[in-house]
Amino acid sequence: MMKSAGHALLSSFKPPYCFPPKNCRRLPSNLVCGISTAKSRKIHAYHQKQQRLSNFEMGAEQYLPPWFSVAPMMEWTDNHYRTMARLVSKHAWLWTEMLAAETIIYQEKNLDRFLAFNPDQHPIVLQIGGNNLENLAKATRLANSYGYDEINLNCGCPSPKVAGHGCFGVSLMLDPKFVAEAMSVIAANTDVPVSVKCRIGVDDHDSYRELCEFIHTVSTQSPTRHFVIHSRKALLNGISPADNRKIPPLKYEFYYALLRDFPDIRFTINGGVNSIDEVRAAQNEGAHGVMVGRAAYNNSWALLGNVDTAIYGAPPSTVTRRQVLEKYQVYADSVIGIYGNGKPSLRDIVKPLYGLFWGEKGNGVWKRNADSAFHHCKTFKSLMEETISAMPDSVLDAPLVDAYSTTSVDKFANSMSLLPLPYTAKEEEQEEELLYA
Ligand SMILES: Cc1cc2nc3c(=O)[nH]c(=O)nc-3n(C[C@H](O)[C@H](O)[C@H](O)COP(=O)(O)O)c2cc1C
Repeated sequence: MMKSAGHALLSSFKPPYCFPPKNCRRLPSNLVCGISTAKSRKIHAYHQKQQRLSNFEMGAEQYLPPWFSVAPMMEWTDNHYRTMARLVSKHAWLWTEMLAAETIIYQEKNLDRFLAFNPDQHPIVLQIGGNNLENLAKATRLANSYGYDEINLNCGCPSPKVAGHGCFGVSLMLDPKFVAEAMSVIAANTDVPVSVKCRIGVDDHDSYRELCEFIHTVSTQSPTRHFVIHSRKALLNGISPADNRKIPPLKYEFYYALLRDFPDIRFTINGGVNSIDEVRAAQNEGAHGVMVGRAAYNNSWALLGNVDTAIYGAPPSTVTRRQVLEKYQVYADSVIGIYGNGKPSLRDIVKPLYGLFWGEKGNGVWKRNADSAFHHCKTFKSLMEETISAMPDSVLDAPLVDAYSTTSVDKFANSMSLLPLPYTAKEEEQEEELLYA
């Protein structure tokens, strides 16, 4: 991996625990401890069921499969958030924010700022955006040397800044052949697997058949074998990106129908999954992987903190938030201002921590104190010394509550009774597929 001054600083930071042995594709039975036999049996059955799918061609075969991923989120899942997230969960797959191919190309001399990450962040997926084959090829080539574990193309962003400028983001879904070409180009320029993150439709192109035609074309005409399905359509009528994540209804039945109709493709479900119980409920209905966005950011401790135990069957964690903050401090004070012009700022670096105390007594006071401390504190350490007393020791020193609850959530059960009719590719599509083969 390329190194720069910034990267060297990041690399000096080590998380407070050891990673599981590399090449650990099957969860060792000794990890399934501290939980009841019934739970252990359930985890074992789940792992067996997933084994076939875990034999997917991941570049990072040494990591556990992406049963849980944190969604790509612009201005949220930056290096700072991912550093904090990795202190809380060893196994969650982390995704970058979307990076436009053009940004990668224009910043060729300054790439570490955009692409370097601490090796502890593995497994990590880079999401790129774009609509120009040449630029996608060059950007992928430039990113390849950074050692991401998967490269993903954004086909789901409805922002007018993105989707309005020709076929970029979710607009790409209207041109599956182009997406197949783009994915072939991306795959040809990287040595790791490639994937697509998309919606279930765009405007009135929202039938299950149209979604299947998109998946069929892209998966048969390119090496794409993994799709992340944000299970609501996008509206390109000018509503805000935030409303586009709320207003179009979630249709999980489309996601589960894809599992039925494309048995050789890996699908990750995304959209509206808000708790560990809901992650497990999605898995119980057969989801290959679950991606969580807003909840993993806003309530990171409860969500991420329970991923290793509840989803990957690791022993209960003894990490406390005080320990997370202590480790994060080493990182934080080594990166403040490294890009010049005060960037990243103390505020940028503190922002991902707000989700650690979601719903806790003292959270509001701490945030207010931090807000005023930004004006005069120069280091993360001094900010913490000045403000953290707002947070009770009982919160700071509490280990994670074992959220491996037995609460049964039937969020997805209803979708199973709403599955659309099975998809079969049209004859001419099958002929094209044969020609391609
Ligand atoms: C602030 C923010 C920024 C986002 N940026 C991206 C992005 O860069 N690329 C992308 O594919 N999706 C992006 N999304 C969408 C999320 O990846 C995810 O699909 C969406 O939030 C639904 O998942 P959730 O209900 O678990 O949050 C963003 C979402 C938020 C809240």
